Amino acid sequence: MDRYLVFGHPVRHSKSPFIHTLFARQTQQELEYGLAEPAVDEFAQALRTFFDQGGKGCNVTVPFKEQAFTLVDCLSPRAKRAGAVNTIKLTDDGVLLGDNTDGAGLVADLKSHGVTLADSRILLLGAGGAARGALAPLLAELPSELVIANRTHTKAQQLAAEFCDLGPVTAQTYEQLAGLFDLVINSTSASLQGELPPLAPALIHTDIAIYDMMYGASDTAFISWAKQHGARQTMDGLGMLVEQAAEAFTVWRGIRPGTKQVLRELKRNLGVI
Ligand code: ATR
Repeated sequence: MDRYLVFGHPVRHSKSPFIHTLFARQTQQELEYGLAEPAVDEFAQALRTFFDQGGKGCNVTVPFKEQAFTLVDCLSPRAKRAGAVNTIKLTDDGVLLGDNTDGAGLVADLKSHGVTLADSRILLLGAGGAARGALAPLLAELPSELVIANRTHTKAQQLAAEFCDLGPVTAQTYEQLAGLFDLVINSTSASLQGELPPLAPALIHTDIAIYDMMYGASDTAFISWAKQHGARQTMDGLGMLVEQAAEAFTVWRGIRPGTKQVLRELKRNLGVI
């Protein structure tokens, strides 16, 4: 049976095996999908061993995405832009192809929630790996403006400079932010510590869409905060998780699974519904 897995550390709580097993059932593909948690300095060896032993493809998550970028034979254009690899496929020619489906997953999830990206004014919070992966797919949707704000402003400036060939992207400090944004995407890891990015409450209005790439059994700190200040449409990163997985599954198997039912089952599994 074709073997796939996700590399991460820690990865024990990953939902990827659950999601891909449902995709395989739904599309009648025969495959198994497991977990691998190599020590941080043993990822390269573990990856080699997996493919030497007949593995067909894998996902890569924190903290190995940047390292995976350096270990594959060939990079997709979107992985090159993201500077990170979350999906690897062994091609029929024996080439390890590195791809990145995170940004596509975000955009697919935003669209599935009915969020309009074309001509919209987008605020992206954070300038780490998650922000980098999201920029090209967001700019491809032709927003009127995309502003990056980050605690360490120089990182936002560097990111804007790197992507400004793709669209109207600029960097502003949190203090400089003003005017009406249609969509705020939180790509910071602040929620992990139960912290909030230092965003002025005045930027939140009833028609704004709020997206937190993090998720949990209950609202993230950022989503709770945004609701408290009047946001009516809030979304967490669970949908992005399922959509990036669907994109990876499509890369591997050449068949696109449906995501709606799988997302519902995942929510049930997590006790969200
Ligand atoms: P990831 O790969 O998940 O993006 P990362 O590269 O470590 O992780 O980036 C984390 C991002 O969250 C950074 O933009 C970080 O801001 P700094 O560049 O200033 O470190 C941001 N971040 C983390 N904790 C934060 C907090 N409490 N408030 C605001 N931003 C925070």
